Amino acid sequence: MSKQQIFFGTNNANKLVEIQHILGENFEILSYKDFPPFDVAETETTMQGNAALKAKGFYDFTQLPCFSDDSGLEVSALNGEPGVYSARYAGESSNAAANMAKLLQNMEGKSNRNAQFRTVIAYFDGKEMKFFEGIVKGKIIVEGIGTGGFGYDPIFVPDGYEKTFAQMESGEKHAISHRGIAVRAFADYLLR
Ligand code: IMP
Repeated sequence: MSKQQIFFGTNNANKLVEIQHILGENFEILSYKDFPPFDVAETETTMQGNAALKAKGFYDFTQLPCFSDDSGLEVSALNGEPGVYSARYAGESSNAAANMAKLLQNMEGKSNRNAQFRTVIAYFDGKEMKFFEGIVKGKIIVEGIGTGGFGYDPIFVPDGYEKTFAQMESGEKHAISHRGIAVRAFADYLLR
């Protein structure tokens, strides 16, 4: 049986390996490196909107079934910020340390530390758009702990745990993470 090719618009090698591993050998995940350079700008104001925009844009270019993911951290006391702007919270060329510093500053004096990470995956096969979502709830602590992971991991403690995402092995994190949940829901759909 020939493999089903699917395009995943990412430059993140870890995400590619992770999803290829979950989907198994009946699927071949292609990414930017397999095509001439192109890009789809994230101009929407919601994660779902951006994920859909990208999946459709990828399809127009590649003519393959396509999916994209969009993730972010939503903090209750900040009305859901940084949300869709998580990667560039402290400015266009900001990095994880600057983003976390801004978030912790905005959280000073706030007693409600509730937050959630959310991932939305959009899959477009040329006819239909499908969405898969993953959410993990937790708390924002006052100072970063741990060196693993990326982004806001050092300041996020998932509910039911006493350590941050940055203190977990990647397998432990992905078993409960927003991305892990969304990817497994997507894989269940493709493998149904
Ligand atoms: P992306 O859509 O997966 O590229 O995520 C956008 C931004 O959300 C990242 O640049 C991070 O700032 C944040 N983010 C998403 N997922 C995670 C995570 O698992 N841990 C920490 N930060 C994350």
